[in-house]
Amino acid sequence: MGIRILGIGSYVPEKVLTNFDLEKMVDTSDEWIKTRTGIEQRRIAAAEQATSDLACGAAAKALEAAGIKAEELDAIIVASITVDQIFPSTACILQKKLGAKNAFCFDLEAACSGLLYALEVANSLLTANKKYKKILVIGAEKLSSIVDWEDRSTCVLFGDGAGALVLGKCRNTEENCIVASNLGSDGHYTDILQIPAGGSRLPASAETIANRQHYLAMAGSEVFKCAVTAMVHSCKKVLKEAGIAAEEVRWLVPHQANYRILRAVAGRLGIPETGVYMNVSRYGNTSAASIGLCLDEIARGGLAKPGDYLLLTAFGGGLTWASILLKW
Ligand code: ACO
Repeated sequence: MGIRILGIGSYVPEKVLTNFDLEKMVDTSDEWIKTRTGIEQRRIAAAEQATSDLACGAAAKALEAAGIKAEELDAIIVASITVDQIFPSTACILQKKLGAKNAFCFDLEAACSGLLYALEVANSLLTANKKYKKILVIGAEKLSSIVDWEDRSTCVLFGDGAGALVLGKCRNTEENCIVASNLGSDGHYTDILQIPAGGSRLPASAETIANRQHYLAMAGSEVFKCAVTAMVHSCKKVLKEAGIAAEEVRWLVPHQANYRILRAVAGRLGIPETGVYMNVSRYGNTSAASIGLCLDEIARGGLAKPGDYLLLTAFGGGLTWASILLKW
């Protein structure tokens, strides 16, 4: 019968880093950042906060909104490229923090598309298997921990945060919130968005540290072109599968990478700018967390009404992309 959203929550750290702060750190300007990306500020986690702490803040609010206890969760999926440590999973670390003792827990890595990949997996688990009734999915990132703060071409783009959704089974078909989905990957472009070292191919060494290979590296303009093409193509497939016209979409909720990318995607889909949900100016690119942050603002702000269509779309390293048409 499908799935429904029981509760949404988000968390951002207190510390705000503005473009003017960045002007003092690297050779950049508020003007350059704003005109190229739309970003004005981003949140930065405290040194003692790990990704699981940000995830915990969002999860607690999502559980509260759903009105359920952590013990009721059957599974926890954490989407992140900034896991607390390579293993154990951040989902297991979070499980302990939440006291979700009846859940099985795992991490999912699909970069900025991570939350939508997690939604697709949770949807499949909940609809295919009677024994799973409630699943927590979270996109959480401490990107400040993998950003090279000496590289102006990347450090101005990213921020920290987390967004969480508690999902449950529908009581009838009318309640089903996932109308259509499209997910894809293209491994031919692994090198345009990556952290080169720290895995089995290039374990950490004095040399990898000296070469700054543990930081996020990105071929910005190539990513830009791939992002627009992939998201537009994927959104069109979803709309076609659902039999919905672009004009019927209340909100396009894209991964918040760069307002120029978001405007280009919306323009090619024929969705007016007023129909594009954007908070990139306040949070920057928070990778897997970004769509969760948007959905929480939409929910808490009462910005969508029951029956509205929300078209979620994301794109990230891998390359990965995903679009999901939600019925609110
Ligand atoms: N301040 C000032 N100048 C800068 C800065 C900065 N922060 N960064 C770069 N520049 C300079 C460059 O050095 C270059 O100078 P040059 O012409 O003298 O060589 C000039 O600005 C233009 O650089 P471009 O890279 O061509 O700028 P562009 O317009 O492409 O914007 C940007 C760069 C914002 C990174 C853009 O390409 C972009 O948004 N790309 C996509 C990023 C993205 O979507 N990532 C999503 C996935 S993230 C993930 O999966 C984790």
